[in-house]
Amino acid sequence: MRSLVGDLLLARLAQSSTAPARGALNRRLCECIRGAIHDGSLEAGSRLPASRELARELGFSRNTATFVYEQLVAEGYLRAVVGSGTYVRERMPDAAPLAPAPRVSGVPPRRSALSQRGFAAIDQAQASTRQWGAFMPGLPDVTRFPQRQFAGIASRLARTMSPSLMTYSTGGGHAALRESIAQYLRQARSVVCEPQQIIVTEGVQQALDLVVRLLGDAGDAAWVEEPGYWGIRSVLAINGIHMLPVRVDVEGMQLPRAEGRENARFAFVTPSHQYPLGPIMSMARRFDLIDHAMRQGMWIVEDDYDSEFRFTGRPVPSLQGLAPDGPVIYVGTFSKTLYPGLRIAYAVVPSDLGERFHVAHSEFYRGGHLLTQAALAEFMSQGAYAAHIRRMRQIYAGRRSMLVSLVERWLGREWIHPLDTEAGLHVVLTLPDAVDDLAIERELLAGGVIARALSRYFVQAPRERGLVLGFASVPEGEMLQPFERLVRVLRARMRK
Ligand SMILES: Cc1ncc(COP(=O)(O)O)c(C=O)c1O
Repeated sequence: MRSLVGDLLLARLAQSSTAPARGALNRRLCECIRGAIHDGSLEAGSRLPASRELARELGFSRNTATFVYEQLVAEGYLRAVVGSGTYVRERMPDAAPLAPAPRVSGVPPRRSALSQRGFAAIDQAQASTRQWGAFMPGLPDVTRFPQRQFAGIASRLARTMSPSLMTYSTGGGHAALRESIAQYLRQARSVVCEPQQIIVTEGVQQALDLVVRLLGDAGDAAWVEEPGYWGIRSVLAINGIHMLPVRVDVEGMQLPRAEGRENARFAFVTPSHQYPLGPIMSMARRFDLIDHAMRQGMWIVEDDYDSEFRFTGRPVPSLQGLAPDGPVIYVGTFSKTLYPGLRIAYAVVPSDLGERFHVAHSEFYRGGHLLTQAALAEFMSQGAYAAHIRRMRQIYAGRRSMLVSLVERWLGREWIHPLDTEAGLHVVLTLPDAVDDLAIERELLAGGVIARALSRYFVQAPRERGLVLGFASVPEGEMLQPFERLVRVLRARMRK
């Protein structure tokens, strides 16, 4: 068996044999070792294989290896310790010549190096590098996640981990988790489903990508809510699907009039809590959409991203439950109920497509993380998931009403977007049309406050200006200071 040092030197020798400065084997091997010491690949104090071992690993004579070690000891790079071995010196010789590792020369990455699809996806990029702080939209309070309880389950499972938890995920994800999700969705979301219809994915983003790749072709069109979830845009762009933005009103997505409806392969909707404005899709619209989809061969993709958090009124049942055998793909996530870094979401597909989705999922992504999935299944079956949601619902209700009362006190109730329905993890502030919400977003960010400009949620020229404010991760006692800063910036901007 070869050592890591052996692997490293063989790779360096292979590079140096194609570099212009060829030379005697001794010299090349010396240069490789010096280079690896200089660039840190061979760390100070690390032990090298015995010369006999090195010779065997590299396929050289023992004399060559001995000569090289002696030479580098003489130069001050290595230290020979009798009876122990040969080590990289802690201090390098002062005048040691730098031996740069050979590099492949080439053209640095340029914009033109990207494919057209790559461009389109990067052009649509919206994800922020800042993910934590007041008022990051869509973020739950990750510090409240019962980490010890979850880690306890995960570490117990890890201690007796069977090979089946250590392989790729097939069959749409861990069976027990699919079972738990199906049971939860039937009870809490009126989704009609069996575990075979569920595919566990690494976030909604992957679920959407899977759906689009498997059911759409490049050149197809998709209705998307306007304003709507920006994450869908890069998925559509990368898969060559053309977006048809459809306005949203108090009843959710306004379906284009029957005579003017452009045919589309998909309709992406958030019927329980339209993202980001908040209305609930009316029953009339739901039935109209399902009817249209059935007649036109359209797929409805229902993104039920945060419906666990509704603070007044009754829970809003899923659209999927209205047409269990219909053309509806239901998508949900643990990002809002637990935490986004968990990267576990799911799609529920019609029963005759379950098997094909399972196959495609493992073909496209070669999933894993089965230990986490198994731990989550147990967390759910113990009742800990439902208990956590109950707890967080109360906490978020308090934080939402604190934010709303700050808006009322400092700005006025009319600043809360008229389509707000007291749900989810964010509130939308509405701003006059003349105000540049992107400039406000930038100024706030420079002062350490996160607020997303509503214009970012439009595909076409924005028709409304506003700010999307997440409240869920900000305790009531920590809200006032960033909110005051926000008000100061808003007032200054409005005077301009
Ligand atoms: C409407 C909507 N769908 C989906 C997601 C993302 O879900 P996931 O974290 O599972 O990719 C978000 C995240 O903010 C969202 O707002």
